[in-house]
Amino acid sequence: MAWMIKEGIYSVGVQDWDRRLFDELIPLPDGTSYNSFIIKGSEKTALIDTVDPTMKDELLDNISKVEVDGIDYIIANHAEQDHSGCLPLILGKYPGSKVVTNDRCKEYLMDLLQIEDDRFILVKDRETLSLGDRTLEFIITPWVHWPETMVTYLKEDKILFSCDLFGSHLATSDHFVTDKKQAYQSAKRYYAEIMMPFRQMIKGHMQTLAEYDIDMILASHGPFYDDPRFILDAYEKWLSDEVNNKVVIPFVSMHGSTKEMVDHLVGLISDRGITVKPYNLTKTDLGDLASELVDCATIILATPTVLGGPHPAAVYATYIVGALKPKALYASIIGSFGWGGQTKEKIISLLGGSKMEFIDPVIVKGSLNKDSKKALKKLADAIFAKHEENDLVKKR
Ligand code: FEO
Repeated sequence: MAWMIKEGIYSVGVQDWDRRLFDELIPLPDGTSYNSFIIKGSEKTALIDTVDPTMKDELLDNISKVEVDGIDYIIANHAEQDHSGCLPLILGKYPGSKVVTNDRCKEYLMDLLQIEDDRFILVKDRETLSLGDRTLEFIITPWVHWPETMVTYLKEDKILFSCDLFGSHLATSDHFVTDKKQAYQSAKRYYAEIMMPFRQMIKGHMQTLAEYDIDMILASHGPFYDDPRFILDAYEKWLSDEVNNKVVIPFVSMHGSTKEMVDHLVGLISDRGITVKPYNLTKTDLGDLASELVDCATIILATPTVLGGPHPAAVYATYIVGALKPKALYASIIGSFGWGGQTKEKIISLLGGSKMEFIDPVIVKGSLNKDSKKALKKLADAIFAKHEENDLVKKR
């Protein structure tokens, strides 16, 4: 379906209602969309990004419904295939068209899609391209979400085409945000999974974007924002160093001993006025867990010892925590073992360069007993003291 956003500006992207996994990694409970746009100027027409190649027919059909003589420019904000995958198809259909992008993105597009050198027009940061009565400005914004990413600003209409940045994996027929709660949760989940590792870089990009007068943000996944402050304010909160009075406990338990410890610790932390969220790793949706990591102050990994180290489900979760780089301040480990192992050392090693401060772990032999309860109380007290030190507890 092609849909006119305003005179001369059309949405020609597609909703992927059924997709349930992205990059063979990220669960998509609400599907996703690949948003693509046509901008008609008085002299030239531009297509902003394409769609995932699995939906090429829908893209062509949508473009055919917009009355354009041809496509002169295809703006490639990002080389990942969910936006660039149909470039060869569009270039073939419109032989006079050129891909407009930055030098790094060009390199990736040539590597990934074998696009010929003479089909590119290269632009630099803040460079503009005239469509006649409309002007595109390109802002180079590395790491949202690959090193080559950029965003495009349509000056006269004050529209930011932000590609992955500010996106959400949410298929919707509504075009613009209507259900703010759902849009917020989807955007937060997306931020956690895609953008959080690049938090410091994005902070810089936010400062750059603050220079622009933006009436509308059209990202390349999810609903459009006709109230840009909705998503800009959310990003400012998520990107800030501020954490909530919250402990997240990703856990796995084989025979119940570690689960007993988790349940006991949940009670102790809750009694101290701290929000606590345990996530059973055998049942948890990765995106739900990632969303909680966006603003929690403390992460406690809970695992039994198996084959001399943490349970593989805990290894996976620890790796994800290390890769997503949440801004949490503190971490610890709890768990049960039968005859020894190196659970603590292996988890710490997996977290690698994390800046989180480690609170003494509680790794005990066997099931919950008097001594392990005492150790867990000490851990809960230490967490409370750290949260209080950071002025978090009273914020509840
Ligand atoms: Fe939506 Fe990084 O691609």
